Amino acid sequence: MDYRLELQRALDAARPVLGTGRVADYIPALGAADPHAFGLALATVDGEVHGVGDWETQFSIQSISKLFTLALALASEEALALWHRVGREPSGTPFNSLIQLEAEQGIPRNPFINAGAVVVTDRLLSLTGDAAGAVREFLRAESGNPRLDTDLAVAASEAQHGHRNAALAHFIASYDNLENPVEAVLGHYYAHCAIAASCRDLALAGLFLARHGLRADGSRLLSRSDAKRINAVLLTCGTYDAAGDFAYRVGLPGKSGVGGGILAVVPGRGTLCAWGPALDRAGNSVGAVTALDAFTTNTGWSVF
Ligand code: DON
Repeated sequence: MDYRLELQRALDAARPVLGTGRVADYIPALGAADPHAFGLALATVDGEVHGVGDWETQFSIQSISKLFTLALALASEEALALWHRVGREPSGTPFNSLIQLEAEQGIPRNPFINAGAVVVTDRLLSLTGDAAGAVREFLRAESGNPRLDTDLAVAASEAQHGHRNAALAHFIASYDNLENPVEAVLGHYYAHCAIAASCRDLALAGLFLARHGLRADGSRLLSRSDAKRINAVLLTCGTYDAAGDFAYRVGLPGKSGVGGGILAVVPGRGTLCAWGPALDRAGNSVGAVTALDAFTTNTGWSVF
């Protein structure tokens, strides 16, 4: 396959929709992003990296960080311990919804909605002492970008407007499903969501899921079955209440963030990371979904 040609075709498919949708502004520091920016990167398991558009521009990774917190938590201990505290069913509700938590006794539906990610961050904080630092170090090592870091202005902006996440976290704590103080957990959660990275960085950092659990240096982060399981939960829950539509259109496990990025995994082959800041109503990038749809439709790079 001519990777660059296929990436260019996907960009061309996305171009007409760029700017369609809304840039997230409930975190005010994200509101200044250019709705017409767009980047797309591809990394393969045999070491090729290609990109088009703004693929080396840094953006706020936001919820894409949740796949790394989950992987690092599962890499650090017996997986069953975590799966008692967070489920793995699609929620069918928005990413920041509170409504299921009461009926389900403070056990979030899955690790990718905000409530579930707060629980995973809490566990990673207990395991490592520095949950956000663990995510940063992992992303630096896998991407080979030592300058990758948290954007402190974005983290502070989210904390100042974080009533919804604080409510979720306190509610979970009321069911004894947090091990650390709410303020500490939220601080780490905001700090890993506010990491700035490029499509290139994220495509490289996600390759362990395409390599069935192996890191860039050849060491094993996850067992083959845990890598399979994370990909499965990404497919069913990674794009929230639009996960069915994303599976239908793109046919790949993927994780979106309100910064406009989507990281998708092609097991055994590679990863794709698309970025365009304007979002649909579920919080997924309109341009990124369109480009990934075009790429997988044109190339057959899908799990189906
Ligand atoms: O907690 C939040 O609302 C953000 N830090 C992350 C949300 C997000 O990225 C949802 N993804 N589409």
